[in-house]
Amino acid sequence: MKLSRKDILGIKELGADEINLILDTAETFIEVSTREIKKLPTLRGRTIINLFLEASTRTRTSFEIAGKRLSADTINISSSTSSMVKGETLIDTARNLEAMNPDVIVIRHRSAGAPHLLARMVKQPVINAGDGAHEHPTQALLDMMTIRSKKGKMEGLKVAIVGDIAYSRVARSNIYGLRKMGAHVVIAGPATMLPRDIERMGVAVYCRLEEAIKGADIIMMLRIQTERQQQNIFPSLREYANYFCLNGENIKLAKEDVLVMHPGPINRGVEISPDVADGPYSVILDQVTNGVAVRMALLYLVTGGGQ
Ligand code: CP
Repeated sequence: MKLSRKDILGIKELGADEINLILDTAETFIEVSTREIKKLPTLRGRTIINLFLEASTRTRTSFEIAGKRLSADTINISSSTSSMVKGETLIDTARNLEAMNPDVIVIRHRSAGAPHLLARMVKQPVINAGDGAHEHPTQALLDMMTIRSKKGKMEGLKVAIVGDIAYSRVARSNIYGLRKMGAHVVIAGPATMLPRDIERMGVAVYCRLEEAIKGADIIMMLRIQTERQQQNIFPSLREYANYFCLNGENIKLAKEDVLVMHPGPINRGVEISPDVADGPYSVILDQVTNGVAVRMALLYLVTGGGQ
């Protein structure tokens, strides 16, 4: 099966069959990263532009590694080193990048919808690496891959997503994806961090962490997105941690074989205690490892790969 779309802009528009195709393809790439020579010739001669106009460690690095492991030439552009600091618009930037005839453009942008605008402007496939508080599809795909590989399925699992739901593109993409794959998704956070009408996305909503994680198969903790918040929406980090930090005590409410996930970057002692982040239930670094395979799969599929 091949991907029948040009761009990967969000999980909302992907079908369960497309998600399975991406995850199945990613699983075939996992082994490459364990080899001594971590390279396939699959994308030799292809060029990938990573246009990261917002800070990133995991996503930018893993897209670059993914491209290189497939033998593509990868070019990284950041906001501080692009001519956008001189006032060039995203549209003009897109036209100029398109004129250099790359094969894929990966974009992270602080504004929701920027990847969609880019995808309309250029003929090349565009992959959304996170747009504002809207979507982070590749993060949700690597999260789903981690759950599927550890639990053997997603259907019927209780997944608790806890923290700053309102400003989290990771939460939004995971809710879309996990619901499509049959998981039961519950969310929890301070009332000021829960979007109005979030129930319409098909999730159960709690104001207390303990209620949400009770009997959970998966707990996904989120960072407070201070860079997107317009004003202080909780009194202090200490008060937030008192109510919403996953720790060695409250985690006992979850299933005995619970998986603890976090997209990173982590604020230790705020949304997750260090002993839980580094403890036996944590699959946080497995998520990062799977991120390379998922991004290899996406680069392969959007450039016409598949059977
Ligand atoms: N999870 C994630 O998107 O991390 P980065 O911001 O470091 O890319």
